[in-house]
Amino acid sequence: MITLPAEFFRTPYAFYEQLRSAGPVHRIRLRTGVQAWLVVDYDAAKEALRHPGIRKNPYSPAGVRARHAAAGDGRVIPANQRLSHHLLYADPPEHSRLRKLVTPAFAPARMAALAPRITAIADELLDGIDRAVDATGRVDLLAEYAFPLPITVICELLGVPVEDRARFRDWSAAVVDTPMATPQRMVSATDAIVDYFDRLVALRHTKAHGDDLISHLLTVTDDDGDRLGHDELISMAFLILVAGHETTVNLIGNTVLTLLTDPPRYRALHNDPDAVAPLVEEMLRYNGPVNVATMRYTAAPITLGGTKIPPGELVLVALASANRDERHFADPAAFHPDRSSNHLAFGHGIHFCLGAGLARLEARIALTRLVGRYPELRLAVDDDDLRWRESILIRGLQDLPVDLAG
Ligand code: HEM
Repeated sequence: MITLPAEFFRTPYAFYEQLRSAGPVHRIRLRTGVQAWLVVDYDAAKEALRHPGIRKNPYSPAGVRARHAAAGDGRVIPANQRLSHHLLYADPPEHSRLRKLVTPAFAPARMAALAPRITAIADELLDGIDRAVDATGRVDLLAEYAFPLPITVICELLGVPVEDRARFRDWSAAVVDTPMATPQRMVSATDAIVDYFDRLVALRHTKAHGDDLISHLLTVTDDDGDRLGHDELISMAFLILVAGHETTVNLIGNTVLTLLTDPPRYRALHNDPDAVAPLVEEMLRYNGPVNVATMRYTAAPITLGGTKIPPGELVLVALASANRDERHFADPAAFHPDRSSNHLAFGHGIHFCLGAGLARLEARIALTRLVGRYPELRLAVDDDDLRWRESILIRGLQDLPVDLAG
């Protein structure tokens, strides 16, 4: 049984490389004591993400058995069950039904129409950023820019008051940073979210509907007249809130970090806006914000990457490792924005990220506006002093100290 090394959160890539050289699938024990199968190579990851014997619903009888078996002592419990009626906890046919209802809300034209507002939010944040400079001349770019940009976009998209964004930050961090094991912090965060969305939806029922996503999901029907139930609606709002900002924050943060380790490349973007899109795409592969995809389990005995896995076992798909698979990407540890890559940063198969278009748009705008305003931005700490989040799910920094003027 393999355990995660101490330096895993700071730099998971050497560990992943070692695992890939030993095989595509490994039995591991997480720090929380949870046991799972970790899929580390590209082909096996793709296979796992579309395998009919690997399922998502943690409340199905097989899901419950798998969660308890994985923890050994029964500590693995997803929090408030009323938030579980969403896409990432659903299997077909339920997943197909939900996805069909929700997909129109993410139509490319609807997302593209958000560009002017995202640009305005980025500019407003940049207008205020020099007020956040501390006594040593530094600013935390994550707290002042990379975080508030996507959370504001998501709040506006959902129709949630922006003043509440600090609460959302705490709640969703509690959910994301305490993977699969119980802690009370996660339970109280999810209870608070249920309470919040219950009230918001009740308000939307009584007030005139706006153009926000909650109003849209409240009224949406498919060709057969099917619609979302109340708990499905609040679960979906919860998923969009968490999935929509925890990831994008770190795509922006990780990209700025990589660029600032190569200042000429960062400055060059100022005069070459066309370079931004391929750069963001390569960043998703090179150091994307999702380390390991969300929880899955085997509902039947399966063989994956040549390894037999019994039913009722947790399966974790390491997207960050698959995206560095040397059998699939030439020179995978190098950052090459000009490579054309089919990375797995947004997942694969039926659960492929619904917000990929929005995430790309936000990251491109965030970067373009930042370099336009602060072409001389500099990293204010050494690589060794960077603090990474200790989450198996998310690959991102705790803070990103920069010097604005250089
Ligand atoms: C699913 C990554 C941004 C909404 C996923 C999955 C990944 C992912 C890997 C699949 C997880 C799995 O199969 O276990 C990312 C990354 C993002 C990002 C890297 C930013 C860079 C967003 C945004 C939204 C969003 C902005 C919404 C506003 C969703 C939803 C799903 C999902 C609803 C579930 C889809 C389904 O199960 O059918 N995302 N995401 N994501 N993402 Fe994203």
